[in-house]
Amino acid sequence: MPKNAPYTMWLKKGTYYWCSCGKSEIEPFCDSSHGGTGKKPFEFVINMSEEVSLCGCGKTGRPPYCDGSHDRRPQ
Ligand code: FES
Repeated sequence: MPKNAPYTMWLKKGTYYWCSCGKSEIEPFCDSSHGGTGKKPFEFVINMSEEVSLCGCGKTGRPPYCDGSHDRRPQ
């Protein structure tokens, strides 16, 4: 994945597609570069404008949101 930290940003109401493959040029969003990876984008809906922290490392347990996994060492 492209970043070992979350992408924090404001999003307007709408439907978004979080990249789960790490190949997108517009991270953290899918740009359809996932072909052949076996991965698919994660669709999520924002119901009202809000600030979000989207996962940038791909290890989150609650996609598309950061859960702090980027800071945890492998056990
Ligand atoms: S480009 Fe990564 S999931 Fe689509």
